[in-house]
Amino acid sequence: METEPQFFETNAAPTVVGQPMNRVDGWAKVTGHAKYSAEYNQLPGLVHAVLVTSPVAKGRVQRIESSAAQKQPGVLAIFTHENLPKLAKTPDAPADKAALNSPMGFMPMTSDQVHYAGQTVAVVVADTLERAQYAASLVKVIIAPEAPVSSYQDPKAQLYVPKSVKGMPGVTKRGDAQAAVQKAPMQLAATYTHATIHHNYMEPGATTAHWEAADRLTIYETTQGVSETQKTVSLMLGLATEQVRVITKYLGGGFGSKAWVWPHTVYAALIAKAVGRPVKLVLTRPQNFTSMGHREEQQQTLRLGATKEGKLLGIVYDKTATTSPWDDYAETNSRIIGMLYHLPAYEATYRLAKSNVMTSTATRAPGDMPGSFAIECSMDDLAAQLGLDPIQLRLLNYADIDSSTGHPWSSKSLKECYARGAELIGWNKRNPKAGATREGKLLVGMGMATGSYPVHNSQGNARVRLYADGRAVVQAGATDLGTGTYTIITQVAADSLGIPPENVRFELGDTVLPSTQWSGGSTAAGRVSSSVYLAVQEVWQKLIKLAVMDKKSPLYGAKSADVAAEKGRLQLKANPGKGEAFGEVMKRASLGDIEGSALGRYGSNYEAPQTTANADPNKKENAAEHSMHAFGAHFCEVHVDPELGTIRISKWVSVIGAGRILNPKTARSQVIGGSTMGIGAALMEQTVRDPHLARYTNASLADYHVPVNADIPEMTVEFIDEHDPYVNAMGVKGIGEISIVGVTAAVANAVFHATGRRLRDLPMTPNKVLAALREPA
Ligand code: MOS
Repeated sequence: METEPQFFETNAAPTVVGQPMNRVDGWAKVTGHAKYSAEYNQLPGLVHAVLVTSPVAKGRVQRIESSAAQKQPGVLAIFTHENLPKLAKTPDAPADKAALNSPMGFMPMTSDQVHYAGQTVAVVVADTLERAQYAASLVKVIIAPEAPVSSYQDPKAQLYVPKSVKGMPGVTKRGDAQAAVQKAPMQLAATYTHATIHHNYMEPGATTAHWEAADRLTIYETTQGVSETQKTVSLMLGLATEQVRVITKYLGGGFGSKAWVWPHTVYAALIAKAVGRPVKLVLTRPQNFTSMGHREEQQQTLRLGATKEGKLLGIVYDKTATTSPWDDYAETNSRIIGMLYHLPAYEATYRLAKSNVMTSTATRAPGDMPGSFAIECSMDDLAAQLGLDPIQLRLLNYADIDSSTGHPWSSKSLKECYARGAELIGWNKRNPKAGATREGKLLVGMGMATGSYPVHNSQGNARVRLYADGRAVVQAGATDLGTGTYTIITQVAADSLGIPPENVRFELGDTVLPSTQWSGGSTAAGRVSSSVYLAVQEVWQKLIKLAVMDKKSPLYGAKSADVAAEKGRLQLKANPGKGEAFGEVMKRASLGDIEGSALGRYGSNYEAPQTTANADPNKKENAAEHSMHAFGAHFCEVHVDPELGTIRISKWVSVIGAGRILNPKTARSQVIGGSTMGIGAALMEQTVRDPHLARYTNASLADYHVPVNADIPEMTVEFIDEHDPYVNAMGVKGIGEISIVGVTAAVANAVFHATGRRLRDLPMTPNKVLAALREPA
C-alpha cells in the first residue's frame, strides 16, 4: 500500500483531494437557497395534485363518487382509472417493464385493480394545496374487497422459488454444501427475522411537472438518477428521450427509494398536460410509506459446518421474503454470505410469497445489509461455541481470494480494519466470557462484525470547460443525495486543473448535462470523479497540441508526449524550466475557453492499468480478472438494562477500507449516517403491517421510530489508506453502503456478549430483550 499515489505530481499544490473540505453547497442549504424539487413555486399557473389512496389491500374499484369534490372551488380535475390519459407504455407488460428499467411492474389507475393498501385510486388537482386536499377528502371510492395475503407469514401465502432475483439465480450451488455441513464436526443452524423497514429520508417524494411546449416536458424530481428518469418517463409518455428534461439539484436523502421512477411522477406529468398547467405533487409522509418501496420483511436460515478448529466447510442458506403481487423482487442476501469468508461449499435458496403490498425495492446495501446479519451473528455463535475470540475466528476464515468467483481481490484491507478497530475500541480489555461484565445494574458487552460492499460496474460522461482566466465549469448529470458529490467533484476538478476549488463550479442534476448513471450502488463518487479527471486530461492534451504547434510558444516543436501540465503550467518533462502558463497559450490562440470531455468507468469494465490517476505500472492484469469490494469492520459497546430491556450503544467504531478517500469529512459523515441507520434497524425501526388487513399501522414518523441524537454516541470513524489500481481512474470505492453492512450484527453480537443471550429477531426492542433474559442462558 502506498501512502500517496503519484497522481498530483503533475498538478496543483496544495492539493485539496483527501482534505476535509467543507461542503460547497453548505451555504446554500443552511440559508434556504438550495432549491429542492417541491420548491419550484414560481412556475406560472402552478397547481397542486393530491392523491386519494385505497384503504383496502386487495379488490376492484366498483365506483367512484367524485361529484361533490368536483364542485369545490378551485378544483380543476379529478383523475381515476376511468379517465386517466392513456400511457404509451406501462410496466405491466414484462417486455415493457424491462425496457422501462422500472421496479413498478404494475401501474395503478390503469385499471380497476387494487393490489395493496395505500395504492393510488384517484388524483385531485386544484389551484391551491389546501383546496386539493379538501376536495380529495370528499372523493368516495367504493372497492369490492377480497381477502389479502399480508406477508410470507400469512397462512394463505404460497411460497415459491423464483427463477432469479435481481439477476441472481433463485438457487445457487457451489460444491456439495449439504454433505459438507452434515459431515462437519461443528454444526450450527439458526433463523433470523427482519421487520419491514422504510427509507424515511427527510425529503418526501415530490414531482413538479411543467410542459414548456406541447412536446417539451421538464420535471423537477426527487430522483437519484436524472437520466434514468428521463428514459422511463419518455417511454411511458411516448415521447423522444430529449423531449423530457429532468432536474434534481438537491436531494434530502434517497437510500435506494429514489433510484426509480414511481407512479406518482408519471401522474404528475400526465396531469400537467391534461390541465395545461404546471403540477406539483408531494407525497405526504404516510403516502411515502406506500408509494416508493421499502426493505422487505424476511427470514433467513443459515446452517454452517466447520472443522473443530473453526474453519468453515460449508453453508446452506435459505431466505424467505414477502414480495408484491407482480414482482419477484427480493434483496440478494446470498451474495455476501458466499464471499465474506473462505468457503469451499455453498448452497443458497430464495423463497418468495406474493403478497398484497407495494413492491419492495433497493434500500441502502440491498441484500448485503440483512445478509451480513445472518453470517456475522452465526460467526459470532461459532466463536462462542469454540471458545475463540470473534476476531480470531474471522482471521482463521479470512478470504485471500473471492470464494464465489475464484478471483483475487483488486484490493482488500480488512485485516487492517480489524486491527485498528480493535485498538480504537479497547478490544483487549473485553472479558472473553459473555454475560460477565457489569456496570452497576447494567450489563455491558462489546461486539464486532465485518462489512463488505461490492463495486458495481457503471459508467458515465463528464465535461470540463477551462477559461483562460483560470476558472472552470465542470458538468455531469449526476445527483448529490446530500452526501457530498458537489464537494468531492469540485475537489477533484480543482486538483487536476491546478486551480483553487473556489474557481471551480460543478453543475449536476440535469439531463441537459453530460449523461452519467444514477447515484446508486455506491458508484457515483468513483465514476464521476474518474470521468472528470479524464476530461481534464483531454483539456491538457488539447492545450499541449496548441503549444507545440505555436511558433511563439517556448514549447514549439516539442513532442506532445514530452510535455506535461503542472500547476496549470505546460512544461517539458525533461526540462520543467521550459514552458508557459496555459492562459498564455489560450490568449495567443484567441481562445476564451477550452473543453474536454470523457467517459469514466467504474468497476470491472474499467480497463486498468491506463495512464491515469491511479495507474500502477507493476500491475499488468485486467480489472475484469479481479473481484472488487470495499471491506470494513464495525465495533461497538452496549449497555443493557436487565430491568427495562433497553439497549444503549455507548461506544461506536467503524474502520473502512474503500480505496482513495476524496474527502474524509463527507466520507466520515456517510459512515456515521450508515451506522446510525443500521442501529435504527437493530434497535427500533419497523413498519408493522396488520396481518388481516395488510395495512400499515405505523406509517408516520411519530410511530415509526428512527434513531435520534440521544440514541447515538460519539462515533469514531477511520479509513485505511488503500490503493486500488483496478476499480477506476481515481482508485475510489464507494462508501455510502458499506457504512451500514455489518452494523446490526455488531450490535447483536455486543448484546450477546453483554447478556449471554442471542437475539435473532430485528429490531431488538425491549420486549424481546426481556423475553430473552427470562430464558436460561
Ligand atoms: Mo442504493 S440502495 O443503490 O441507492
